[in-house]
Amino acid sequence: MSYKVGILGMGTVGTGVAKILLDPVGRHAILQSVEIKRVGVRSLNKDRGIILDPSIFTDDLEAVVTDPNIDVVIELIGGIEPARSLILQAIAQGKHIVTANKAVLARYGDEIFTAATAKGVYVMLEAAVGGGIPIIQTLKQALGANKITAVTGIINGTTNYILSRMSANPHESFAEILADAQALGYAEADPTADVDGYDATDKIAILASLAFGDRIKLEQIYREGIRHVTSTDVARAAELGYVIKLLAIARNHEGLEIRVHPTLVPKDHPLASINGVTNAITVAGDPIGEVVLSGAGAGMGATASAVVADLINIVAAIQVQPQRPNQLMGCSHHHYATVKPITVSTSQYYLRLLAYDHAGVIGDLGNCFGKYEVNLETILQKHHHQGLAEIIVVTKVVSELNLQTALTEIRSLAALHSIPTVLRLLA
Ligand code: NDP
Ligand code: HSE
Repeated sequence: MSYKVGILGMGTVGTGVAKILLDPVGRHAILQSVEIKRVGVRSLNKDRGIILDPSIFTDDLEAVVTDPNIDVVIELIGGIEPARSLILQAIAQGKHIVTANKAVLARYGDEIFTAATAKGVYVMLEAAVGGGIPIIQTLKQALGANKITAVTGIINGTTNYILSRMSANPHESFAEILADAQALGYAEADPTADVDGYDATDKIAILASLAFGDRIKLEQIYREGIRHVTSTDVARAAELGYVIKLLAIARNHEGLEIRVHPTLVPKDHPLASINGVTNAITVAGDPIGEVVLSGAGAGMGATASAVVADLINIVAAIQVQPQRPNQLMGCSHHHYATVKPITVSTSQYYLRLLAYDHAGVIGDLGNCFGKYEVNLETILQKHHHQGLAEIIVVTKVVSELNLQTALTEIRSLAALHSIPTVLRLLA
């Protein structure tokens, strides 16, 4: 029997998927029973660099999701609409879904999975987080025996590529590095999603939901991107023994904390050596301890690998039990988690302050920090330029609220010029 696939989108990931499906020999035997029936795109005239019968292309995407001959719809157009409506339409037609679209899943997962459960079809999302890394199946199946306590990851390839290049080549411009990430196919259509942390927020919402068993409201996740991280901070962090990474963290720490922010990671931590587009995710659980998964987090081949793995799982499941969905492949969450606000969290902080080069500045800073119980680990006055002294502070673990209160008071000190950077350290 042959299984018919409709692919929505033939860009970076869609092309990678088509390449695998057109060359099945030597891969899982199931792929020899899969046929690309239709492909939906925006422009019918683009050269896609693959040999597919032009007659299967259409710019009418509804025709793909309503085609009675199609068993599985692979959604790779990205964005919210029309992706959401097309996925829901396909589900209503009884089709199984594979998608790499973390943006739509993080916002409309509730609607999509409820519809899929009612219709008895699968919605598979391995490619939505971590590119080629099998983190979704790991959380859904392989680590099912564990009580998960934390998921910590570098889950945006574009920002890791940018931060790694800033670290290796401090004189390259941010715009130049981002343009390269876009040319390599890593960045989202609107790279703001990468740079400002939205993409990582969508992904950690999905991972937290799988790890902690409840749905997550995106607006409860604290998010900071990497625009304010400068080459100076990358260099200062290195001098202190840290690497700056955009981390997505979900942990059960007297309540559920979920946040995305640039983070100083100790150089000997497994995540510190993850460079370029590589992603890595550590999962801590009881009784497993800590598991680290790493691999290409974006790009044509890696992402297509995850998409096709989902397709293989669906075909295998419907071959064996067409009417009885495998519950390990579904979503059984019904409630929303309560996520702790960032204001009640604690962390170590790195601060870079610029002060007028006056006597007593360090004393004034120390007094303000002390007043709000912000205990300091390191305070260094290192560089002087244009009449300003650069002061680097690393705190001990302190309350976010106390730190912010202290910083408000410090900003009003006559000797203070500015506080260009406030970053957190990995707990
Ligand atoms: P691309 O921008 O490269 O490709 C998008 C494809 O969708 C194009 O073929 C485009 O058609 C088609 N398309 C977009 N909007 C429409 C529309 N309204 N109507 C018809 N066709 C449309 O995206 P990617 O392949 O990079 O990403 C696809 C998905 O995979 C996204 O959800 C992304 O977040 C996700 N993803 C991407 C990764 C990557 O490394 N690129 C990694 C992991 C996930 P046309 O070609 O005619 O313009
Ligand atoms: N833009 C995303 C990234 C693609 O850079 O990680 C992979 O999801």
